[in-house]
Amino acid sequence: MNISTLLDEKVKQALVAAGADKNSPAVIKASSRPEFGDYQANGVMGAAKKLKMNPRDLAAKVLENLDLSDIADKLEIAGPGFINIHLKNDWLAERLQKTLASDHLAIEQVIKPETVVIDYSAPNLAKEMHVGHLRSTIIGDAMARVLGFMGHKVIRQNHVGDWGTQFGMLLTYMGELQQQDEELSMQLADLEKFYQAAKIRFDKDEAFAQQARENVVKLQAGDPDFLKLWQQFIDISLSHCDEIYSTLNVLLTRDDVMPESAYNDDLAQVVKDLDKAGMLTEDQGAQCVFMDEFKAKDGKITPMIVQKSDGGYLYATTDLAALRYRHNELGMNRGLYLVDARQGLHLKQVFTAGKKAGFVPEETQLEHMAFGTMMGKDGTPFKTRDGGTVKLIDLLSEAQQRAFDLVTSKNPDLDEASRREIAKTVGIGAVKYADLSKNRTSDYIFNWDTMLSFEGNTAPYLQYAYARIQSIFRKAGEINTKATIILSEPQERQLATKILQLSEIIDIVAKEGTPNLLCNYLFELAGNFMTFYEACPIMKADEETQQSRLKLAQLTAETLKTGLDLLGIDVMERM
Ligand code: ARG
Repeated sequence: MNISTLLDEKVKQALVAAGADKNSPAVIKASSRPEFGDYQANGVMGAAKKLKMNPRDLAAKVLENLDLSDIADKLEIAGPGFINIHLKNDWLAERLQKTLASDHLAIEQVIKPETVVIDYSAPNLAKEMHVGHLRSTIIGDAMARVLGFMGHKVIRQNHVGDWGTQFGMLLTYMGELQQQDEELSMQLADLEKFYQAAKIRFDKDEAFAQQARENVVKLQAGDPDFLKLWQQFIDISLSHCDEIYSTLNVLLTRDDVMPESAYNDDLAQVVKDLDKAGMLTEDQGAQCVFMDEFKAKDGKITPMIVQKSDGGYLYATTDLAALRYRHNELGMNRGLYLVDARQGLHLKQVFTAGKKAGFVPEETQLEHMAFGTMMGKDGTPFKTRDGGTVKLIDLLSEAQQRAFDLVTSKNPDLDEASRREIAKTVGIGAVKYADLSKNRTSDYIFNWDTMLSFEGNTAPYLQYAYARIQSIFRKAGEINTKATIILSEPQERQLATKILQLSEIIDIVAKEGTPNLLCNYLFELAGNFMTFYEACPIMKADEETQQSRLKLAQLTAETLKTGLDLLGIDVMERM
């Protein structure tokens, strides 16, 4: 159990024993300043208000009932009724020793693992991946890593779009090029250009457009020639994605791809089952689901359309089929959808209808982990200089090139291969960290200079902090693994408690989908280490102290490395 949970339980019991309602929260917080102890219990004020009691009197009563003698050496009442908790040095040191021995650091394994399906990345295969897919891919991947590390069963699902009407246009254009004996793979090397060329044909030539519409129908009816052509296109498009996933160092593989087309055969059944559940209404020839939950102020309901009047199925139909597959076949207890905030209504409708129709049970947790838009410096959505969408592959090359220039200017004598290697880790790390460190739900401004800076809350800063600790070890030589940790200076204690708090942070990240809290934590940890390193000399200290401090340094380095790894960011031994 982590420290915060442990204190929470104990203080809650004491609150109840002191007369408070049994639902009174203890409100345990890590203290912001050492003079307030290591932790504070802030729940007394709220409980006292309910009891109409003086909060300091209630706090005194709580203390009478609070036995923390094994773990704390001082409890005091502060201000209007805060309880400051000063933990025992020996107890902290003992926990640190255990942390050092564990391959999960301070993070405990969950007792009841859940099967968590994470729906992320999910580009539309008709086009090349662009910056709009970056956030889903990066944040989703961090969630997959965090939940997996805690011991949950994580199932990644890349719900790629491979079945929409655009494929009629693309396949028709492919057919034309084939007739002209053009090398298709060459043409498809740049999907974005290919898409644009096909679109021009589609917009300008009515016969072509008509052909394209007919071809979608043929494709969806399973015409073998079209299926073959389509498969060729999809394979090339997916290999573009693979290249990005590997550059980005995300976990997604081909095995995680569960495309929209995979649900094709189930769509008619989905509509039938909605009908059986009494949920279908025909509206202007289309099959719709009207749910009271989506009633606007004027009394009008925004329906979810599941079948068009021409018989075609929609995005929502596929998502309902996917939902049921995830429950029936994957055994999902919790589903996380890393999808742009603008699809909020769509997902809410799918979740609500899926539960009403019994596709998933009521207790399945379905969460839209929405995110905001990536903006340019001018505060409008991130675009190329001429206003086009930025291809992800170009953005990632630019990141590596910029990092390379930076590394070269700092370290001109290093051989080129090493500089390229460092540049890749720093450049990609910087892009990912910039995204992960922002509040997920807000829009954020993409800025090369701040994300590549070695100062502030950035990947390069943390990677550098890690490499610096490694250089201390190179100077210090062997660490005595049997040495004990002794915490005497306040900076040592502060660092120690911080190291142990990793588990508390991870719990919240896992629950709320907020990797930015892990980023903040790592940034503060690095800061605590710098303060410790300035105040507590390592090389000049006596043997016992030196070994203890080296262990603190080792724990810091491992926590930084693990934390960054959970974010999908690598570290280097030297920079
Ligand atoms: N392909 C969709 C898009 O590009 C995102 C899919 C998200 N996942 C889902 N199950 N709807 O907008």
